[in-house]
Amino acid sequence: MAFGDLKAPAPDSLLALMSRFRDDPRPRKIDLGVGIYRDSRGATPVFNAVKLAEQQLWKRQSTKAYLGSLGDTDFVSLLARRALAADNLAGLQTVGGTGALRLAAELLSLTLPHRQIWLGVPTWSNHLPIFKAAGLKTRTVELFAADSLRYRPDALREALREAKRGDAVLLHACCHNPTGVDPEFAFWLSIADEIRERGLVPLVDMAYQGMGLGWDQDCAGLALLVDRLPNLLVAYSCDKNFGLYRERVGALFVRAGTARETATLIDHLGALARTDYSMPPDHGAAVVRVILQSPELTALWEEELTGMRSRIRGLRNALAAQGRVGAVDLSPLAAGNGLFAVLPLSPAQIDSLQADHAIYMAPSGRINIAGLAGGDLAPFVNALQAVQHQRAVLA
Ligand code: LMR
Repeated sequence: MAFGDLKAPAPDSLLALMSRFRDDPRPRKIDLGVGIYRDSRGATPVFNAVKLAEQQLWKRQSTKAYLGSLGDTDFVSLLARRALAADNLAGLQTVGGTGALRLAAELLSLTLPHRQIWLGVPTWSNHLPIFKAAGLKTRTVELFAADSLRYRPDALREALREAKRGDAVLLHACCHNPTGVDPEFAFWLSIADEIRERGLVPLVDMAYQGMGLGWDQDCAGLALLVDRLPNLLVAYSCDKNFGLYRERVGALFVRAGTARETATLIDHLGALARTDYSMPPDHGAAVVRVILQSPELTALWEEELTGMRSRIRGLRNALAAQGRVGAVDLSPLAAGNGLFAVLPLSPAQIDSLQADHAIYMAPSGRINIAGLAGGDLAPFVNALQAVQHQRAVLA
């Protein structure tokens, strides 16, 4: 048999968690797993701005003919202007932010002298698999101080002194996944210098703009890099900030030393896309384009995004106000941004939260804060206390 010896791959931790949660028959359960925004009823509704844009598309769209490997180029340039305030970044539409990362990784694998990328860990659980699948060597830098859970984004900057010219470095633009801890602006100033002096290539992952401190604030560090660096790649996702998850809406922006080099990069990316999936799906990007082309729809979308951000901030503050719950100090959550935080829980405690309390979180201890619906805070805090107590009793 051709496939007789094939072993099953290790399951993706977040996708496996999603299906375990779905299959759990308990009526009261809390999903703090995969990173999607939820409102106080636990729902992830479609934005009103998206519904209205879809109506317009339905009325006006006259063809479904192919657009080509670069996708909807008007969407790409509108997004570059709106998100990055940049008129001088070339790009192409991608299959979500993951598709942008994968194309970027393939391009880097094709062009970098040492095919090497540096990244801080912990990081999104799909980053390393994507880079490895594209043939890149990965160099990881521990960002948590060994003695504590103190997060040290500066450790990455320090480690880059060992990097070779032409190595790539992955940066999270905002709302760090999984910690929620973003570096100070001073970090961006110093890393921009480090990258330029050492001839490195930054790949910036921007998946949560507008869900942290604010639209412009969330992009301040990335905007600085766009302003100062000759070479740069930005993997952008509209899945979260337009609530378009399953539509898979993203873009990859690039800049090389000259306009001609940039054009050649775009040609290569188009060719890579052609062999990966030929062309990206149209609908989600068309929706974002229609929103960004209309001042009224843009204002409505901004209002809805602001509402999401306020709810996340309110939940962070409410959790932080609980202070210490056993050995877990929730107070630093107030200073974090976006959906995520990592709680210092053991695998046994995380298992017990799931088995005994129907509370689901990533095996790394990452929680999606927006997964706490109205009325979930107290049961969550009680369960956090209980699983630690249980361990103390058993020990
Ligand atoms: C997450 O980190 O939960 C999200 O980015 C969803 C995903 O695809 O993993």
